[in-house]
Amino acid sequence: MLALVTEPAVPHSTRVADVPEPEGDGVLLRVLEVGVCGTDREISEGLFGVPADGSSLVLGHESLAVVERDGHGFSKGDLVTVTVRRSCGHCLACEEGAPDSCLTGDYSERGITRLDGFARELVIEDPEQLIPIPAALGRLGVLAEPTSICERAIRHALTIGGRQPWQLERALVVSAGAIGTITTYLLRLAGIEVWTASLEPSSELVSASGAHYVSTTNTSLNELKTETGGFDLVISAVPDAQLMADSLGLLRRSGVACLLGIDGRPQAVSIDGPVLGLDAVLENRVLFGSVNAHRQDWLAAVASLDRAWCLVSDICRRSGTSARFELVSDTFRSSTRLGASNGCQTPPHQVR
Ligand code: BGC
Repeated sequence: MLALVTEPAVPHSTRVADVPEPEGDGVLLRVLEVGVCGTDREISEGLFGVPADGSSLVLGHESLAVVERDGHGFSKGDLVTVTVRRSCGHCLACEEGAPDSCLTGDYSERGITRLDGFARELVIEDPEQLIPIPAALGRLGVLAEPTSICERAIRHALTIGGRQPWQLERALVVSAGAIGTITTYLLRLAGIEVWTASLEPSSELVSASGAHYVSTTNTSLNELKTETGGFDLVISAVPDAQLMADSLGLLRRSGVACLLGIDGRPQAVSIDGPVLGLDAVLENRVLFGSVNAHRQDWLAAVASLDRAWCLVSDICRRSGTSARFELVSDTFRSSTRLGASNGCQTPPHQVR
């Protein structure tokens, strides 16, 4: 069968190759969609990733798949996605079912670290790692993985902010890429007033959510802070350590800033002395990072996408964040009919 294979640490080695069919216990899945994100690009450029076996790795950690045969509580034709990170097997967090908070760093991740991913025709997976996708969500189910990352960030920010009396009224999302746009939608679904800032002149998707779009080419983030009075929450999804550090200065009293981007470039970044030495202390501000997602975040992600698909169906179509993976089962094509389950007039990306 075919798969998208790479050699981690060997730039531009990614290719379509023949790989053996999967064997062993578990649920047999046929992959329908695989999303491609910055992490996949970095792996492909030789900057990230650990081989699964020998020197190679099957890419793909954002997945949508269909169950190929009944078993383990699943039925042929069920749509599912699959968690990415697996337990290290020897830390408190992993023992408690929270490998997203792994304390050793010895975890593995599908398509990223020591475990083959989903960019292949068939996968056998542990039933405990499957997340059911409602049929009405259809191909948008592939957005569950990036959405789970955003759900975790917001959940942690709320926990941190909520350690003291606090109200989340105004949020700033830095980036209008996939993670920034999905975060914007999740915050809008929660009724928060959101500003989303990015380099592009405009973002139709951001504006459609009811958020204020700010082009940083015209308005700097510092100007935005002055205009608005600062933010209770900043979620920064840009791969730029300087912009990440700047988040602390955009907060108002008791504000929380969450970093989701990755920037491993060796460099010094600067921060205004009084922002760190005065405001962060006297105003009880917090800056924290978040990675991966807990199972509860996956479930929340699917529920949010199901609520929002009238709005988010455009994310796939217009931003092309999900690369089409042409491996649709014929049986599935003829046996699945999708219907609208949440009041929308037309179903999104139908599985066919
Ligand atoms: C994935 C996460 C993963 C992280 C670090 C991200 O692109 O979405 O699931 O934990 O990369 O490997």
